Formats: sequence, structure tokens, C-alpha cells
Amino acid sequence: MNRKRAAVLISGRGSNMMALIEAAKADDYPAVIALVVSNRHDAPGLERARDAGIPAAVVDHARFGEDRAAFEQALDAKLREHRIDLVCLAGFMRLLTPWFVARWSGRMLNIHPALLPQFKGLHTHRRVLEAGATRHGATVHFVVPEMDAGPIVEQESVAVRDDDTEATLSARVLELEHRIYPRALRALAEGKVGLTAAADQAKAK
Ligand code: GRF
Repeated sequence: MNRKRAAVLISGRGSNMMALIEAAKADDYPAVIALVVSNRHDAPGLERARDAGIPAAVVDHARFGEDRAAFEQALDAKLREHRIDLVCLAGFMRLLTPWFVARWSGRMLNIHPALLPQFKGLHTHRRVLEAGATRHGATVHFVVPEMDAGPIVEQESVAVRDDDTEATLSARVLELEHRIYPRALRALAEGKVGLTAAADQAKAK
């Protein structure tokens, strides 16, 4: 099997990254996690990746100041240096410019802790509770220039309970995240989803 080389981009604890690393250990998984990149030196996920034997690099956005283009060029160079085919954003807290998004178009996924297209943006669990929504969930989608707006690859939902807090709700959603991200990367690596096909499906709905 010719496995795709995937990179996971993180900014924090990296639990989704670990779910992808674990899934990719299976013999029949169509991707290897070939690289983890963090934009912060202090991301706890870096050490978890290294403990798992995965090359882990830092491309520190702060080093580039306001120069987003230079940061993204450094990131892109790192991905190319490791011959990366596919990119998974997993708690990566930088907005990407249209240049970077276009470069990785159809080859870059993101995970968002809400049932997109509802609750784009930050603090989704709190906002779901405040809105009194009865269901919540997680979505893996293709990355397009508009934030949290790309065609959906995988989505799962859970019921919101009366006694849920942000902590209990986010913990249940995180379990879903860890299930759906490996499924989504598998589908992309096997060529079962593509940006055009997914966009067509979204239009047909
Ligand atoms: C996850 O909830 C993900 O959906 C969101 O940021 C969080 C990252 O968590 N984009 P982790 O670093 O994967 O544990």
C-alpha cells in the first residue's frame, strides 16, 4: 500500500493528533503521520508526538511578527521538506491566508467542535449551552479560505443534557472528535472524498 504522508498541525495539547497517530498504527491505514508541526514551543502535544516517535517541529509564528506570508512560507517549506501529501489541522490556532489554503486545497482538513454550519468560531461549547441547543457535535471539513466553512467530510452529534457544563459537554464532544478525525483522514487518503466531490454533495443537499 502506498501510504499518504500526513502532517498534523497543532497549537496545544494534541489529543486529536494522538488519535490520528494511534489510528495510523493500523497496518491497513492509508496514511502515516510523518510530521507534527506546532506554531508554539510550549504546545504540550509536541512532547506527546516525540514520545510516539513522530518527528515534531516548531514554526513559531511569533518569530515572524505581523508577517503572515513569511510564517506560512516557512510552514509550507517544512511540509515540503518532509514530503507531506496531506495536512490535518488539529487545534491549530492560526488563521491561514488564501495563499496557503490554495496551496493545500483539497489536501487539508480541519476539525471543529460543533455541528457546522452552526457555531463557527471559538467557545462553541459555551455558546451551544447559552443557546439552549439540544444537540451538539463535531465536524471534520476541508479547509477553504473562509473560516470553518469548507465542505464537510465527517460529522457526529451528541444530545446536550440538562445538567451539562462546558467541561462535561466538551469531554463528550472530544470523544466524537477522536473517532471522526481518523475516519476523515482515511477517506481522504483513500481518495474517497475530494474537495470537488464534497462541494458537489453539499450543493445537492
Ligand atoms: C479540539 O476541540 C478541536 O476541535 C479544536 O481545538 C481542540 C483541540 O484539542 N479545533 P486537541 O489539541 O486536539 O486536544
